[in-house]
Amino acid sequence: MKIIGGSASSDLAGRLAGELNANLVATEVKRFPDDEAYVRVVDDITGEDVVLVQSAYPDRNIVELFLWQDALADLSVKSLRVIIPYLGYARQDKAFLKGEAVSIRALANLIQTGASEMYTVDAHSKGASRYFDVRWNELSAAPALAGHLKSLNIDSVLAPDKGALEHAKRVADLLNCESDYLEKKRIDSHTVEVSPKSLDAGGKVVAIVDDIISTGGTIVKATEQLREHGAKTVIAGCTHGLFVADALEKLKVCDEVFSTDTLMSPVSKVTVAGVIAEALGAQRD
Ligand code: R5P
Repeated sequence: MKIIGGSASSDLAGRLAGELNANLVATEVKRFPDDEAYVRVVDDITGEDVVLVQSAYPDRNIVELFLWQDALADLSVKSLRVIIPYLGYARQDKAFLKGEAVSIRALANLIQTGASEMYTVDAHSKGASRYFDVRWNELSAAPALAGHLKSLNIDSVLAPDKGALEHAKRVADLLNCESDYLEKKRIDSHTVEVSPKSLDAGGKVVAIVDDIISTGGTIVKATEQLREHGAKTVIAGCTHGLFVADALEKLKVCDEVFSTDTLMSPVSKVTVAGVIAEALGAQRD
């Protein structure tokens, strides 16, 4: 098996290669002065089973992903499995208003070009899979998140909204502790409201677990609620740390913030390489 790591996921691809005892393919990536990307597969990978790892965020990395796929189409590889650790655009999984693009469908059409299978981690929308004709494998980062929290004596894992409850519950189950969720209302892409709710957080060490942290607004509001209810320690963890603009600064209201390496950030403290390696290994057998 040969692994290609695109610019968005080079660290994770290296860890994955280590987990699988597989070789990383030598590649070349350049940016022209106008920011257009250039990619080249340097090694000879004719007849190989290839795994391409590239998160679909931000847009420039999506274009780079398509360039990798185009390059691979000419190289007579035996098989191509595409790993998109963070699948951007999954929020827009349908036309909410007439005339809107179904963004994830547009991505899906290109992502699956030449691929036999697609893997992603904690897709934001369960509806995204329907746009992929190739085999869809959705993995959970819960074991990686729980691994980090294990030594921190967590009393309770909280989802900041009902949509994230399944994710939070998976982590809670691995930690053998309780889970709950908050009632969140999104006002616009920068503003959320978290409704007061009776919570038994007094004196507790609480982990807030979400799939995505973007502006950080959701976690900040959830943390405020927890502090009002007397939580002793608030730790925020997510699978995909986008941390746009000054999100990490705002998140200093938490005692700790961490994410996985589906996206690279200063707080990517845990890796999903093991979770992906296990899935690829299971497929191989
Ligand atoms: C929403 O449904 C997601 O699970 C996250 O809660 C959301 O993307 C977080 O966004 P932000 O950090 O901007 O509040």
